[in-house]
Amino acid sequence: NSTPKIARYKPYYTELEPERTYLWCSCGRGNAQPFCDGSHKGTDFKPVRYKPETKGEEVLFCGCKHTKTPPFCDGSHNDLLEDYPSDDPNSEENCAVPNVRLSSNPRAPLNGGCYVFSPDCAVLEEKGNLKYCSVIGPEFGAIYQSQFYFEANEGHSPFISFGDRDVVLFISEGEVEVTISGHSFIGQLHSGIYIKGNEVFSINNSSGGTVKFLASACPRADKPEWPEEMLNNFDISQPERVVPLDPSQRQGMANRYFQMLVDKSVGSLVVTQFIGHIPLSKAEPHRHLYEEALIILTGKGCMWTENLKTPVTPGDVIFLPRKQIHSLEATNEDGMLVVGTIYPGDNPSINY
Ligand code: FES
Repeated sequence: NSTPKIARYKPYYTELEPERTYLWCSCGRGNAQPFCDGSHKGTDFKPVRYKPETKGEEVLFCGCKHTKTPPFCDGSHNDLLEDYPSDDPNSEENCAVPNVRLSSNPRAPLNGGCYVFSPDCAVLEEKGNLKYCSVIGPEFGAIYQSQFYFEANEGHSPFISFGDRDVVLFISEGEVEVTISGHSFIGQLHSGIYIKGNEVFSINNSSGGTVKFLASACPRADKPEWPEEMLNNFDISQPERVVPLDPSQRQGMANRYFQMLVDKSVGSLVVTQFIGHIPLSKAEPHRHLYEEALIILTGKGCMWTENLKTPVTPGDVIFLPRKQIHSLEATNEDGMLVVGTIYPGDNPSINY
């Protein structure tokens, strides 16, 4: 009577009506999931009351009843499963899904505004020792975030700013010195770096080779700005800005794992960056309530939406609109390593 019953291993997406109070079933025994129908009688459980705080609120009510943030899903359902729910890529239905060819266009469009972008095929603009292009942005249908791909040759880059937006960098090749509003940091390979709104940054590449990095600006920006000078407005209340790859920080998620890179621990409140491993498998089609940019670091695979798919290889970036149904498949033996930037959101393990 003190153990909740798992109603299901994923949350319930619900559009809430204003002025209504909801009673979420915490015991899992009710027949009106995710809501209470009185079945908790005789158990230690009581329903949890929730009244919408804003108009048009959309929530994910926990279905597994093991959440630590009742009544909402916090991803705990993944810990109750040995294997992340998967789908058979060779089912009759999936075999009928056509492949979108990349041709020479860097952007392979899938359903619902989702696409895969290959910076290797893109025309890059130049600014000082930098070459760059837009990967995700309003011109491609993004509503919340934008992402730019950069290559930095030897030397000091121009000063870069995205105005008052929060900026999250990911170093995908090489190692650089990053100066944020006068404070310098070492950005190692595969580290995430947080730059607060209104701060200015620059890159010093003395590695002897080309350094590649991606910059996400949230909310979205049309293009980078090139201020004449470095500002001196570094937010000292948040001195740590670089999060290196660290296997000891991995969190399990069924048979997958991820490590948070840029998140609240470095002061980023609404943009979250993580690095995660996907084993050889095709995920069960699902959705998220956040917009996501997913960089493929290692491995090969295929990105699927309702009735289209396209191959993905290292360097590609997947743009995933909010609520778009999708499934990412890793096709090589040791799986894929990916880096995600979610916005607005703080928990990459929540899906529905
Ligand atoms: S469904 Fe319970 S935590 Fe996600």
